[in-house]
Amino acid sequence: MFINNKLVSGSEILREALLKKSAIGAFNFINMETVQGVVEAANEFGVSVILQASESTIKYMGFSYLKSIISAAADESKVPLVLHLDHGSSFEICKKCIDEGFSSIMIDASSLNFDENVIKTKEVVNYAKLFGVSVEAELGTLAGIEDEVEVSMTNAIYTDPDEAFEFIEKTGIDSLAIAIGTSHGPNKGKGANPKLSIDILKRIKQKIGDFPLVLHGASSVYSDEVEICNRYGANLKDTFGITDSDLKEAIQNGISKINVDTDVRIAFLGSIRQSIEENKSNIDIRKYLAAGKRSIKNIALRKLKMYTSH
Ligand code: G3H
Ligand code: 13P
Ligand code: ZN
Repeated sequence: MFINNKLVSGSEILREALLKKSAIGAFNFINMETVQGVVEAANEFGVSVILQASESTIKYMGFSYLKSIISAAADESKVPLVLHLDHGSSFEICKKCIDEGFSSIMIDASSLNFDENVIKTKEVVNYAKLFGVSVEAELGTLAGIEDEVEVSMTNAIYTDPDEAFEFIEKTGIDSLAIAIGTSHGPNKGKGANPKLSIDILKRIKQKIGDFPLVLHGASSVYSDEVEICNRYGANLKDTFGITDSDLKEAIQNGISKINVDTDVRIAFLGSIRQSIEENKSNIDIRKYLAAGKRSIKNIALRKLKMYTSH
């Protein structure tokens, strides 16, 4: 059973997005304010969103606080929400999240070879299916930093279209994260916005047909947001993200879920830095956090509009 009966499984909303040729925003959260900012945007724009927690966030918040905050969000929300585990590294953590009432999980065994990835993913799928929880898995390697493993741009392994088809058939997953040139964090590309390989995406799509594909490392790393951080004391260098036009093209070619963590972090950080700088005598922390929350709502709105515009 999900932690709140107003939550829906990931596949429920991803299938719908696929038919509409739009994408669902999947935002990483770390606390109450990040959840509130995203959910306010989703409600204002009238679309469902995926709220996702990494293993580090679960450690940081603890299941009890995490579940209470998401359950409150589901109660308050006018649109269906998904609670998703991002980059689950083991069967144990996936099982734990399913048992705790998540409605969607990701098993990321992409660092293993194809056959081992299939075995580990299938084990999770078999368990998740018993509870109606949808499963995302990953094939290929994102350039950049994934978990603690650093993968250089040149060694990035794009997803093989034939393997993608076979992987979906063999595992029974609900969605597949693919590698087509994105990477996690604020320093994508090498001194320029990385170009996505839409050609590989098209070839994957041709092989697998109507099946939800996921784009990780898809933050835009907007220069205006970075500029606010740096103007108020941060030192973010060599920042590059995925351009809106690349994201739109990716959506038109079959991407139905777009993961965003870095843009949430940068928006939150910049607005809090600015608020602290501009209110030096203020000791009411809520003022700073409220600024952070507003900035997350704005960034989420900006993204939701883009993901659903044709
Ligand atoms: O894709 C990974 C996310 O950016 C999670 O990062 O483990 O620091 O929460 P984190
Ligand atoms: P960004 O670092 O581009 O926001 O990607 C986040 C992500 O893929 C989370 O799984
Ligand atoms: Zn990711």
